[in-house]
Amino acid sequence: MTWRHFAAAAAIVSLAVAAASPVCAQTKKAAASAGAASTSSAASSASAASAAGAAIYAERFRTVCAACHGVDGRSDMPGTPVLAGQHSLYAITQLFLFREGRRKNEAMIAVAKQMTDTDLRGFSDFIGTLPPVAAPLPAAPLDSARMNKAEVLAKEYKCVFCHGTDLAGGQGVPRIGGQKEDYVRGTLQGFKSGDRPGYTRAMTEALSQVPPDDLALLAYYVANLTGK
Ligand code: HEC
Ligand code: HEC
Repeated sequence: MTWRHFAAAAAIVSLAVAAASPVCAQTKKAAASAGAASTSSAASSASAASAAGAAIYAERFRTVCAACHGVDGRSDMPGTPVLAGQHSLYAITQLFLFREGRRKNEAMIAVAKQMTDTDLRGFSDFIGTLPPVAAPLPAAPLDSARMNKAEVLAKEYKCVFCHGTDLAGGQGVPRIGGQKEDYVRGTLQGFKSGDRPGYTRAMTEALSQVPPDDLALLAYYVANLTGK
């Protein structure tokens, strides 16, 4: 799959680009209205399928995806991201990258490579309906010194600029607050090393000034910052 194909196929998620490209305080409003437009156009184009279609993807999620991701979108399977509370626009960009084999993960490529564009939208719309699920209580009490140190870094490196101070994201910017620590650490290392290509260059650029030693600290902060 060439970049040209990628660009053509990306038309189905073109609004995601608008929402995911350096989304910041100033553009968040525009992204939000672009997202609203995408929701309404998606709603009208999918209206024929609508309720019946939604029920089909809810059922397919339960039978195919829940084994790893959990019925409610949060499982305890290591390395498997929480989908509960994730935004549909972000989800569709990632399913697309898996389908094209650009984001590398054997399990997810196997799952996504059979998906039609309708499936990409159906699954990501369903994911967008899953309410956030609180993380299980940590085994050890939080290390507040580490949290405070990481909070300074998250501001310094502008993580909160795009993901929000509560790290809940929005549109093409993923919710990361409460995401699993092992997964966050791995995925930050992936962005940093180039193993995980982003849908946009936002993360590659955001991490370019971050020393590798700080990634674990940021992952600790992200995973433990919930519902603030
Ligand atoms: C065999 C286990 C498995 C199954 C089945 C599975 N997934 Fe995944 N999924 C994963 C893993 C592991 C990752 C993280 C991959 C990585 O590290 O890049 C992932 C990542 C994702 C992501 C990206 C999340 C993020 O935060 O970036 C989405 C979206 C997703 N899966 C949706 C689905 C959907 C929809 C289905 C069902 C059609 C499904 N998955 C089935 C294991 C699975
Ligand atoms: C310019 C905006 C921007 C900044 C700054 C930014 N991010 Fe992101 N982040 C994104 C976007 C957009 C994505 C979606 C990745 C893609 O393009 O595929 C993302 C993805 C992620 C993911 C993957 C989530 C998942 O479910 O797989 C993590 C973790 C993350 N960011 C953490 C951070 C941290 C930590 C920082 C600060 C060092 C940061 N981000 C700074 C925009 C940003």
